[in-house]
Amino acid sequence: MGRTFVCSLVLLCFLIPLTVADWNILNQKTHNGLKISLKNYCESWRMNVELHNIRDFQVVPEECTEYITKYVKSTQYKVDSERTTEECLVYLSTSCNLKKDGKDAWIFDIDDTLLSTIPFYKNNLGKKINVTALEEWMSKGKAPALDYSLRFFNEIKSRGIQIILISGRREHLRSATIDNLVNVGYHGWTGLILRDPTNELVSVAEYKSQVRKYLTSKGYRIWGVLGDQFSSIAGNTGGIRAFKLPNPMYYVA
Ligand SMILES: *[C@@H]1O[C@H](CO)[C@@H](O)[C@H](O)[C@H]1NC(C)=O
Repeated sequence: MGRTFVCSLVLLCFLIPLTVADWNILNQKTHNGLKISLKNYCESWRMNVELHNIRDFQVVPEECTEYITKYVKSTQYKVDSERTTEECLVYLSTSCNLKKDGKDAWIFDIDDTLLSTIPFYKNNLGKKINVTALEEWMSKGKAPALDYSLRFFNEIKSRGIQIILISGRREHLRSATIDNLVNVGYHGWTGLILRDPTNELVSVAEYKSQVRKYLTSKGYRIWGVLGDQFSSIAGNTGGIRAFKLPNPMYYVA
């Protein structure tokens, strides 16, 4: 019994480092022979997602889920995001000649732009997303605010710019979404546009592009878009300046 235990312990001591070091043993070099760590590998994966070189990924690669979870909970993620909203302000102050006639507008995404879905995704990275579970989580209205976005939202409002929220969330989540937004401090938007059955057939990029076109036809001057997905800013943007927040957790086409 004692001996078996010691043997198991010894075996474990050998096995654990092997599992942890698994990645390094198999892939310690890039195709060009550069020696890299798992952190190097995952950081370059994350960077290339943000550069939009890696597209249409279904899940975060298994070997990088720990790294990505750490990143989205880190100060670096907050600093990266805050830099984005600061650049929005620089742009507003230097390049936007606001008319202040009630037609100046700014568009925001909701998830991982105004509200954080990290509490949901941190346990689901690397898995194919279960939409039912995600919508169940959203319907509870417990998503926290991203505080830099909240500050920017309030700054936009104080400058008399109309705020339009365009989200890939579906209509049945409307009241939960409004409650969630208001509870964490967002209020005073002009429009909240969600997906309904008539526009669920087109891609998110096409849907958002159609909404922008509609808003322009109503006389809005859209100065900018703040989102976390490229699909929020794809298609015919008509020269609208778009700012992208970091989001290495999921990809919406
Ligand atoms: C998806 O989530 C729902 C709700 O939590 C659950 O009932 C269902 O079993 C899940 N489906 C899969 C395939 O995991």
